[in-house]
Parts: sequence; structure tokens; C-alpha cells
Amino acid sequence: MSRKPEINSDRFLARIDDFAAVGATPGGGVNRQALTTGDREARALLTALARARGFSVFQDDIANLFIRMEGKDSALPPLLIGSHLDSQPAGGRFDGALGTLTAFEVLESLADAAFEPARAVEVVAWTNEEGCRFSPGCMGSRAFVEGKIPAAWQELQAVDDASRFDDERLATIEALAPDVGHRALGFPVGAYLELHIEQGPSLESEKIPIGIVTGVQGTRWLEATFEGQTAHAGTTALEYRRDPLKALSAGLAALYATVMPENAGARFTVGRITVTPGSINAIPAQASCTIDLRHPEATVLDRLEADVRERLAKAAETEGVSASIRKTADMAPVTFAEDVVAALQVAAQKAGFRTLSMVSGAFHDALFMAGHAPSAMIFVPCRDGLSHNEAEFVKTEDSIAGARMFLASVLEMLR
Ligand code: GLV
Ligand code: MN
Ligand code: MN
Repeated sequence: MSRKPEINSDRFLARIDDFAAVGATPGGGVNRQALTTGDREARALLTALARARGFSVFQDDIANLFIRMEGKDSALPPLLIGSHLDSQPAGGRFDGALGTLTAFEVLESLADAAFEPARAVEVVAWTNEEGCRFSPGCMGSRAFVEGKIPAAWQELQAVDDASRFDDERLATIEALAPDVGHRALGFPVGAYLELHIEQGPSLESEKIPIGIVTGVQGTRWLEATFEGQTAHAGTTALEYRRDPLKALSAGLAALYATVMPENAGARFTVGRITVTPGSINAIPAQASCTIDLRHPEATVLDRLEADVRERLAKAAETEGVSASIRKTADMAPVTFAEDVVAALQVAAQKAGFRTLSMVSGAFHDALFMAGHAPSAMIFVPCRDGLSHNEAEFVKTEDSIAGARMFLASVLEMLR
């Protein structure tokens, strides 16, 4: 006889602490970048927990990890729930991990109650959601949805070292292979649900415990490279300089002054600048930067991207250097499935949670999964809206409310 499934708060909170210890940084956050030792350790921990509970575990060719509970009719495509375990280099303990552990807690709570779902329920931990070690982000969900690993990723190298994506992917798969089965990329999925911290201030400031996410804004990643001529810092007069860093700085100054100030809703971030040869007394030969550009509307993003290109090209011309701009990621804005959003609203009502409907400013694997199965997301508040920061923090009661809401949503989706 099954009972009513319930979240085991103590177990759930202990798990959050256990995973925060994997790749822990002295600043209280985590550095568990995709496919590193820390990421592999987190995968191994989740696998061990799953196997101890008697769930079967699988991974696919891009090292997405799946934990499966069978249902009454296991031929039906599963309800997939989860998030990611990889982190930013100076990341917080909740970004991704909270959603993955919430999904796993829901699976365990169903098992505790001897609840037999109508269809299989699977937890997923996607590979490389963050995109900071290997670009682009959401590689796991993207390859899953495309049913193959894009050929261009074969030669992809890590940002900070010479590791190749392909080697790291295979080594990560091999490390777990003795304990887990294999799964094809892109198997049919009934629906996908993901819980995440909001990573923004709305829920906290409005004192609302649950966000129902109706879609995700668009993101474009660009890499701008300026090439000039390296020369002596002490002897090269102004008229002889072709300084790519000067051009890059001027171009960025123009963009900082216009993109966000003049476009409500736009987000413009330069997160990495590289200058070579990087010598104190040599004019650089090359200066490059990454640009993360976001907006909820694709047409506005097109316009903003054109503006970025034009201003950088103009700055390069003024300084007599060359500029090339490469698009490394293009994530179109997405609207989640109405029926899944409606099911979340019903679940919140039944469970007694006040909710706020919102569009996500961050991208998530749900953005890609929305092209494969009806999908939606649930947000919980985080302190000061702060994320991609070691100080990222979610109150205990908000984590538990999120887990209860997630369980209610899963039960609603299984009806
Ligand atoms: C996800 O990590 C994002 O940058 O939106
Ligand atoms: Mn995340
Ligand atoms: Mn993130």
C-alpha cells in the first residue's frame, strides 16, 4: 500500500551540505567546473546514493547522468526532472545542485511512500550547463535534444588549460562506467521539469516563495578579437602604435555607455579579457574579450548584436587594428508549454504556495529541453538575487518549500 509521498527535509538538507563539500572553495562556494575531478566526484556521489536506493543509473554519450524509477507503464516516455551539478569557477552551492538534489529527493520520497508512478520518473544531471570551462553552455541538453554531439565540439578546448572536451567527456564516462548503464542520446521524454534558484531579486523582494517560470530570455555569446602590432612600450610613439587593447577598451566603453542604458531589459557582460603577449613593457599584439548579450526578444537581440559589431569595428578602424567577431552561442528565447505551466499553477494552489510568474534571465537546460518535450521550471528565492558568486545563499525554508512544490508538481504531472 502506498502512502502520501512527503519530502524528508533532514535528508534533503544534509544532501545539500554533502554536495557543497565537493569542490568546496575557501570562500564558501564551489568550484566544480564541468568534467573536472570535482564534477566527477559529484556524479559518483549521486550515483552511489541512487544505487544504494535501488534505482538504475545510466549515462549517455555526452555524460548526462540519468537515475530511473520504473512506473506502472514503463513503455511510456518518462517524466524527466533535474538540473546540473557543474558550477562556475567561483560558484555558489545552489546553482544547479539545488535542482538536481530536489529532483533526487522527490524520487526518494516517492520510493519511501512505495508510490508507483503511472510512468517512469527519471532524474537527470546535465553535462556542462555553465559553459565557463567549455563553451557553449547547456552542452548536455543541447546534444540530447539534437540526438548527437555536434562535430564542432570534437576539437573544443578548455578555456584555462589544454584539456580537450572529447577526452574529458570520455574520461568522465569511463570513471562511472562500471556502475552504470548506457542510454541513447535523445530518447523520448514525456515532459521535463527543472527547479532552480531565481538568480535575481524578484521573489525575495516580493516575499513570494515560488516562481513559476513561463520562459527564458535569449542569450548570444560573442568573442571579439582585435589584432594590432606588439612593440616596445618605451620607444614607440603614439603615431606608430597599433594597440588592440586601446581599440578594445574604446569599443567596450562605447558599448557600456549605450547597450544597457539605452535598452531596458538588455544585459551586456564582458566576463573575460585576454591580452597577448601579456608583457608589462610591450604593446599587446592581440586583445580579445567575451561578450554575453541577453534580451527576451529575438528581434531586439538581433539589433543589439548588430550594434555591438558596428561599434567594435569602428573602434578597431580608429586605432588601425583588425577586429573579428565570432558567435560562440545563440540561445533563442523560449516560451514554456502552457499545459505544464498550468499544471504547476494547479500544484501550487493545491499545496498552498503563493507564486509569481516570471521569465528567466539565466539560461537553463529547460530552454533546450523545451524543444524536445513539454517543459517548464520552478524558481525559489536566493539572498539579494546573488548567483555565480560564492556567497550565493538560499534559506532553509525556501529550499524545503521548493522541494514540496516540486513534489506537488511531479504528482500533478503524473496524474
Ligand atoms: C547560466 O549559467 C547562465 O549564465 O545563464
Ligand atoms: Mn544553473
Ligand atoms: Mn549558473
